[in-house]
Amino acid sequence: MEPGFWHHRWAEGKIGFHEGQPNARLVKYGARLGAGRRVLVPLCGKAIDLAYLAEQGHAVIGVELVEQAAQEFFAGTSPTITRHAEHVEYAAGGVSIFVGDIFTTTAALLGPLDALYDRAALIALPPELRPRYAAHVRALIAPGSPGLLITLEYPQAAMDGPPFSVGAPEVHALYAGVTIAQLDESPGQNQRMKDLGIEATERCFALTL
Ligand SMILES: C[S@@+](CC[C@H](N)C(=O)[O-])C[C@H]1O[C@@H](n2cnc3c(N)ncnc32)[C@H](O)[C@@H]1O
Repeated sequence: MEPGFWHHRWAEGKIGFHEGQPNARLVKYGARLGAGRRVLVPLCGKAIDLAYLAEQGHAVIGVELVEQAAQEFFAGTSPTITRHAEHVEYAAGGVSIFVGDIFTTTAALLGPLDALYDRAALIALPPELRPRYAAHVRALIAPGSPGLLITLEYPQAAMDGPPFSVGAPEVHALYAGVTIAQLDESPGQNQRMKDLGIEATERCFALTL
């Protein structure tokens, strides 16, 4: 997607992906991320998951393209705002959100990372970007680190993404060499899918990167 697509979505308040509470699978499986980690949350939006992970004792490193999301996440607090070369970092209460493109983040910018939480990030990206995304995330996170990945699968021809359909074989291909265990699956439509009569399956995977 062009950056303008996401800026427009945020400006128009078209953020149906925002759950407004900790994700149920994060609550159920979050202990798999271990304790006291530095957790990368790519394409983080203003997810309550960031605060939830911090409450569990992790240092949370989100990356988000649209500054409005960081401003709304930290609304009512006084985050420290630091300008880096291509990114702006908002930080408070154990959560840092780096505003900018995930693909221009580096280990030097984000610091050491030893866990991954991906909800609605991989599936927000079109097919041609997903291999680059998975390779980039793997390069940022220490080998052997735990991760949680939540995906959605549906007949892609029935609807344009995002969210895009990503099946289990693609997860295995994108993360070849990573230990992957599927933890569960369940029906998981968003409102647009319900309106279009599309059936979808949500899956949660545990990764050892
Ligand atoms: C589907 S939303 C998911 C947000 C969050 N993970 C959640 O669960 O609510 C995808 C988010 O990724 C952001 N985004 C899209 N492309 C990005 C990129 N290249 N780098 C950083 N963020 C990006 C969008 O602005 C949007 O907030």
